[in-house]
Amino acid sequence: MTADRASPHLELDLAAVRHAYRTMRTALPGVELCYAVKANPHPDVLALLVAEGASFDLASVGELDLCLLAGARPAGLSWGNPVKKVTDVRAARAAGVTRFTTDSPADVDLLAREVPGATVGVRLAAGDDGSATPFAGKFGATEDEAVALLERARAAGLDAAGIGFHVGSQQREPSAWTRAIDASARVAARLGDHAPRELNLGGGFPTTHAGGLTPDVDACAAAIRDALARHAGRWRPRPYAEPGRALVADAGVLRAEVVLVAQRAGRRWVYLDVGRYQGLAETEGEMIVYRLRTPGRGGETGPVVLAGPTCDGDDVLYRDADVRLPLDLGPGDVVEFLGAGAYTSSYASVGFNGLPPLPTHVRHDPIATHATIETPEEGGIDHHTSQH
Ligand SMILES: Cc1ncc(COP(=O)(O)O)c(C=O)c1O
Repeated sequence: MTADRASPHLELDLAAVRHAYRTMRTALPGVELCYAVKANPHPDVLALLVAEGASFDLASVGELDLCLLAGARPAGLSWGNPVKKVTDVRAARAAGVTRFTTDSPADVDLLAREVPGATVGVRLAAGDDGSATPFAGKFGATEDEAVALLERARAAGLDAAGIGFHVGSQQREPSAWTRAIDASARVAARLGDHAPRELNLGGGFPTTHAGGLTPDVDACAAAIRDALARHAGRWRPRPYAEPGRALVADAGVLRAEVVLVAQRAGRRWVYLDVGRYQGLAETEGEMIVYRLRTPGRGGETGPVVLAGPTCDGDDVLYRDADVRLPLDLGPGDVVEFLGAGAYTSSYASVGFNGLPPLPTHVRHDPIATHATIETPEEGGIDHHTSQH
């Protein structure tokens, strides 16, 4: 079915995206879902989510254009990047976007100047412990700063409507949402009659990768529902969320090919035709360790260093992670990365080292997602079972 497709490529199962979206809708009733376009901006994904009634979280004019082309309503677009150029804000305004996230005085002033009356939400610096890819201080205001920013926004004529956070992507601790909702409620309490009426629960909902227990959407949703219920007597905001990874990761299989196997200093190096610059950016620091599968090669496995094809020394996917591949693997054999629908094609750099960016082939039949290679895991939990 895919032998005629050039390697490497990403296969994306649209039905799995639909399933993930509907699963999250069910888990978080009453929560508006704004798909974080950066996770996978493929036009078919956006069109599907428009048809499902999703809203969208944007970070750039490019993402804005993609959403509009896919038929998204401007009222369902939310500009979630707190770092904006004046040209971004003008383009957003021209397109009819009215909801923006902010976290600094200069950005509040920019919005007040360029989009008077816009709806703004302040992003808190939520703790991102438990996240595989934390923001590590890049975004977010303290509680004191958030109170001041919302007051500043209101004084400047903006609709200071929201408070929110992002608990870090691939967040494996549901309690991260609990703590962030509690912090948001403290900010709301301090604002009295001007308490924000919207709560942005951000993204961060995890998917299953190798190496450890991953809570499912229901576990995160339960923590969110409990925290909201605890505060409901004093504060009952309209919640929305910005899931990216959880809606598309399990829908994608990245299919690559072995280029070379070599022994170096006592270790077996497997070089693939895909690496850090064709979409596997999240292997940096070995943050995300994908589940792997080698169709047609099911024999005894042994440890490998897994590397990309370019001449860059950093283009090594896994040196420390305990990655094992069949001993009889050789050039031309296929290696599949499971759970690769998020943050792969969108990260693929254009043409680094003369290698083309990662193409996507949308499928209309399901892709099996079970792994055939044992990856040692904490707690002995079996993550090799099918996701959908
Ligand atoms: C503002 C914002 N919202 C949502 C997301 C999506 O996060 P995730 O893919 O972890 O759900 C991101 C990811 O970086 C983000 O920056």
